[in-house]
Amino acid sequence: MDATTRRRVVTLPGDGIGPEIVAATRRLLDELGTFEFEERLIGGASIDDLGTPLADDVLEDCRGADAVLLGAVGGPKWDSTDPSAPRPEQGLLGLRKGLGLYANLRPVKPIPALIEASPLRPERIAGTDLLVVRELTGGIYFGAKQREGGRALDECVYTTAEIERIAETAFDAARRRGGDGGLPRVTSVDKANVLETSRLWREVISAMAESIDDVELDHLLVDNAAMQLVSDPSRFDVIVTENMFGDILSDEAAMLTGSLGMLPSASLGDDGPGVFEPVHGSAPDIAGQGIANPLATFLSAAMMLRHGLGDASGAERIEAAVEGALGDGLRTADLHTGSDGERNVGSEEMTEAVIAAL
Ligand code: NAD
Ligand code: IPM
Ligand code: MN
Repeated sequence: MDATTRRRVVTLPGDGIGPEIVAATRRLLDELGTFEFEERLIGGASIDDLGTPLADDVLEDCRGADAVLLGAVGGPKWDSTDPSAPRPEQGLLGLRKGLGLYANLRPVKPIPALIEASPLRPERIAGTDLLVVRELTGGIYFGAKQREGGRALDECVYTTAEIERIAETAFDAARRRGGDGGLPRVTSVDKANVLETSRLWREVISAMAESIDDVELDHLLVDNAAMQLVSDPSRFDVIVTENMFGDILSDEAAMLTGSLGMLPSASLGDDGPGVFEPVHGSAPDIAGQGIANPLATFLSAAMMLRHGLGDASGAERIEAAVEGALGDGLRTADLHTGSDGERNVGSEEMTEAVIAAL
């Protein structure tokens, strides 16, 4: 893409460390090309200002943008067990639903310089390169909710059409990744031994696979998948799974890369702008201290360039610059192991190092 093309990006910094990491990412993007940023409220910040976690005109603005870059939402200030209190997280769920972003891509590829930062032994992580394809607008997060006295209900619903479209995304992603020597593989993760939605999930994906001969399909129960993610992560290529399982397994998988602060994501629909956001949350425990790791958001911006703005070379520049800064030994606190050659830095210094390495 021509570096002078104006690309309209709505930024939604949100809460906690969200504003810090989004500001750092804007600086990085400004070094790369011309963007027209429009900043809007979401989450707790929006509840405080507007009384709602996602205002209608903010959703409309996002709809009209080329892409949306999000920090994170939520924090103790808005935590409540009262079912009628507005919640920051509703803003994020409403944004995904409102933009039809049913596919969430969370790529997990440990960076060589960070092998030591992972809680797993290097020989366990060797060869790991996987993609979690998480269904993002269905399942228990979006089902009917009820509270009556001492009884609460969360409904979990999936339809054949919802399963088919996310499976299609996973098969396509596997083809694009091209396998590693053999056929690309999709591992579908469910709980078909207990849940009816999982039995439909397995039936639909298995039926699709019958007419697919360029991608292998296998199935794992979610408890077993959680175990294998730490015992044998390199066995995975593409994982496709429903909303809640994908939420949980992707935080687990993030630790293979050394820190939750490293994992980016892209949330995509059939058309319209995608939302690009780190997998981690608003990290209220470290907000305002200048020590948050901005790299998951930088890498989300790379996904935004690649998947949302058709600028693969810009994406590669960001990814290479992140590897460069880490290769030079810079580590935010979440990645710092104290080994020789590492330097513990704050968000600011990390941002400057990545910009310098562009
Ligand atoms: P979290 O991901 O915010 O934090 C978990 C741990 O990881 C914390 O110790 C935190 O300091 C650390 N961490 C996370 N990101 C980091 C970064 N970039 N650099 C350094 N350390 C980092 O999860 P949580 O504490 O369970 O949730 C806090 C709030 O965030 C909750 O309100 C939750 O709902 C919300 N949340 C939002 C999103 C999102 O907006 N996409 C995702 C997850 C959680
Ligand atoms: C994530 C988060 C969100 C989710 C929350 C904050 C609604 O955990 O993006 O992984 O569950 O999807
Ligand atoms: Mn999550």
